[in-house]
Amino acid sequence: MPPLQGLAKQDGNQYLCIVKKLYIETYGCQMNVNDTEVVFAILAKYGYSRTEDIAEADVIMANTCSIRDNAEQRIWGRVDYFNTFRKAKPELRIGILGCMAERLKDALLDTGKVDIVAGPDAYRCLPDLLAAVSEGHPQMNVELSREETYGDISPVRIDRNGVSAFISIMRGCNNVCSYCVVPYTRGAERSRDYHTIVREACECAGNGYREITLLGQNVDSYEFEGVNFAKLLAMVAEALPGVRIRYSTSHPKDISDELIETMAAWPNICHQIHLPVQSGNNRILEKMRRRYTREWYFERVAKIRSVMPDCGISTDAIVGFCSETEEEFRDTLSIFEEVGYDSAYMFNYSERPGTLAARNYPDDIPIEVKTRRLNELIALQNRLSLESNRRDLGGVFEVLVEGPSKKDPADLCGRTGSGKMCVWRDAVHKPGDFVQVKVLDCTSATLLCELA
Ligand code: SAH
Ligand code: SF4
Ligand code: F3S
Repeated sequence: MPPLQGLAKQDGNQYLCIVKKLYIETYGCQMNVNDTEVVFAILAKYGYSRTEDIAEADVIMANTCSIRDNAEQRIWGRVDYFNTFRKAKPELRIGILGCMAERLKDALLDTGKVDIVAGPDAYRCLPDLLAAVSEGHPQMNVELSREETYGDISPVRIDRNGVSAFISIMRGCNNVCSYCVVPYTRGAERSRDYHTIVREACECAGNGYREITLLGQNVDSYEFEGVNFAKLLAMVAEALPGVRIRYSTSHPKDISDELIETMAAWPNICHQIHLPVQSGNNRILEKMRRRYTREWYFERVAKIRSVMPDCGISTDAIVGFCSETEEEFRDTLSIFEEVGYDSAYMFNYSERPGTLAARNYPDDIPIEVKTRRLNELIALQNRLSLESNRRDLGGVFEVLVEGPSKKDPADLCGRTGSGKMCVWRDAVHKPGDFVQVKVLDCTSATLLCELA
């Protein structure tokens, strides 16, 4: 009977409830956010309740990311900060979860600053690890699994607005792009049973959520007992009329016509695709092991736009990958220009130990060159985002209210189906409402609207 872990027997039949306070900071991708929600669910059964106040926590954890070196550097700083709370609370436990736990393993324990290290597939063991840990005896589980999907666990949602929920549909990645650490930190790709996905989506809708984002590193390779991603998406859309469905991330090599047509066929599937291009140059794409060409990528964008002319398209790109010449970088600028992305995440290449690129190609682009290229790309994307937003001036869009705008609480904010952030003056509506807004003005990041 698991809850007994959170109870201590007093005398006779009396139990004293010992609720421990658990604080978790989450870094990295949306899948990590969802994993944190799974960890809260697992530990809730053992008497750990969530706190957002680090000072009152009995257990402090960071769910970490290894995607770039600066992501890891940030965590080291947090570990030192977490340790400052030990003075006031000697029995405090500090845990490192997620991708950095998986990548660094013992090296984290060797610092003497961490009591628990748990990789992304080891969260069911957290109650045991916490029970076993004691002064001078840290605990670690970094086993990767071929089966674990946490499919049976209903995550404890940690977002504040209560409107938008993440559902992981798969874990791991088999693509092994040469620069990427994810296949090593998250292990082999596995798809979650679609019954549990649809059930969780229905639970979210029952709890008032109005938008669901299905998550995977490469959702296009979802496959469970003959159900592919397009079919899964249709299943969820059919089960939840009136709830918006989004997903992330598509891999350009795998995004299928069937998926694009399914998105167009269901009114509640949002017309938004995150399609990371990484580079616009074929030699670099090959060296990255992305397994598509610039021409293939264009053809996919053309297909998306022919079926859904209003589809928002965003991307990720890396600049300064090993041996990238100035001319090759210009190909990334030109693909951005030609596609005209609505938004983009752009990064300097960061060598990750153990990856194919780290083993085979020198990280030979000087940091000043990387940063100059990155700034050039960011400046271009700012212009493209502004141009994209200007095309919407005068248009009327349905948006889902997320809550008050950060800048001015008298304004509400929410997104269009294509993923653009809108703000408008509104004293009537509340989070979870769908409203029609008209675009009056814009910045490169936001559509400034009024109720239509
Ligand atoms: N599965 C997704 C990407 C996940 S990682 C996909 O395949 O598109 C998110 C983004 O981080 C990547 O799209 C890439 O642009 C960036 N990234 C990954 N590894 C990186 C590295 N070593 N250096 C810099 N950026 C990196
Ligand atoms: Fe990394 Fe490539 Fe997998 Fe994306 S598809 S997670 S970039 S290996
Ligand atoms: Fe980071 Fe791991 Fe996600 S490396 S981006 S948290 S899968």
